[in-house]
Amino acid sequence: MRAPRNPDQGARPRLRPARERPLLERAPSPRPPASAGGRGRPLAIQVREVVKTYELGQIRVRALRRVSLQIERGDFVAIMGSSGSGKSTLMNILGCLDIPTAGSYLIDGVDVSTLDEDDLSDLRSRKIGFVFQSFNLVSRTSAVANVELPLAYAGLDRATRRQRAEDALRAVGMGNRLHHQSSELSGGQQQRVAVARAIVTNPTLILADEPTGNLDSHSTEDVLRIFARLNGEGRTVVLITHEPDVAEQAKRVVSLSDGRVVEDRRVTAAHDAPPVLGRLKSSHGVPEALTPRVRP
Ligand SMILES: Nc1ncnc2c1ncn2[C@@H]1O[C@H](COP(=O)(O)OP(=O)(O)OP(=O)(O)O)[C@@H](O)[C@H]1O
Ligand SMILES: [Mg+2]
Repeated sequence: MRAPRNPDQGARPRLRPARERPLLERAPSPRPPASAGGRGRPLAIQVREVVKTYELGQIRVRALRRVSLQIERGDFVAIMGSSGSGKSTLMNILGCLDIPTAGSYLIDGVDVSTLDEDDLSDLRSRKIGFVFQSFNLVSRTSAVANVELPLAYAGLDRATRRQRAEDALRAVGMGNRLHHQSSELSGGQQQRVAVARAIVTNPTLILADEPTGNLDSHSTEDVLRIFARLNGEGRTVVLITHEPDVAEQAKRVVSLSDGRVVEDRRVTAAHDAPPVLGRLKSSHGVPEALTPRVRP
């Protein structure tokens, strides 16, 4: 049950009144139940024959051509493909930021086409954490205030929001930069703040579009280590990348070409530990095994 709205939020922008009941009951933990292992593992994502066509005057751009994809809960999937192959278009659909022209998309078994705009924004804010290549942090705003933003509508008091934001930042090794503004942080640090912002709501699904595209190799390792740890906790991770060595850290690699899935390669089982955990060196103070204290 969602906590009641706190008057402390009065000055903040608001979307709409809190629901009496959450649209979708959040699982008590992102880790799937033990009985869900193996073949019977529940599906986080079901994309069925999805088509996305953009109409630009006389020109029709067929960005996705009957893409079908199923992703188990707890899997870690890299999506690869050349520029313009449809990766971001697919990610926007997975994140309920865009709707398919044809075909269907189910998230945790719910067909998103049956949901209205409010339900969709509810689903996005409760279940999904987004990370983008360009960080998308609010400038001239501290790291901790950036990470607090997704909690603005969660009905939490100010002290709890601050505590959760600080916990999320510590979980990505940014506990010593809580009050720095974006312009005072390196690219890798900004991306770690963006990851903290994505996990502060305790989502079960992390979607990342080229999260390491602007990072050097050390920062790439830091961010991959964090994704691996989030996946090790049972969260589903879908990550777009151009870099084969980044894709190799996932458990499954799906390649798109011209709007179609052309390769779907399993690296390790969905329920195995993510490969990255054993391989990467620790760096930049990202904790090895600290579970982010991002409570449901
Ligand atoms: N809003 C839009 N309107 C029209 N066409 C679009 C739009 N968004 C994407 N496209 C087109 O759809 C195709 C797929 O674009 P998409 O952004 O999904 O590619 P991508 O694989 O993410 O590429 P990149 O690696 O460069 O980010 C491209 O041909 C692109 O020009
Ligand atoms: Mg893209």
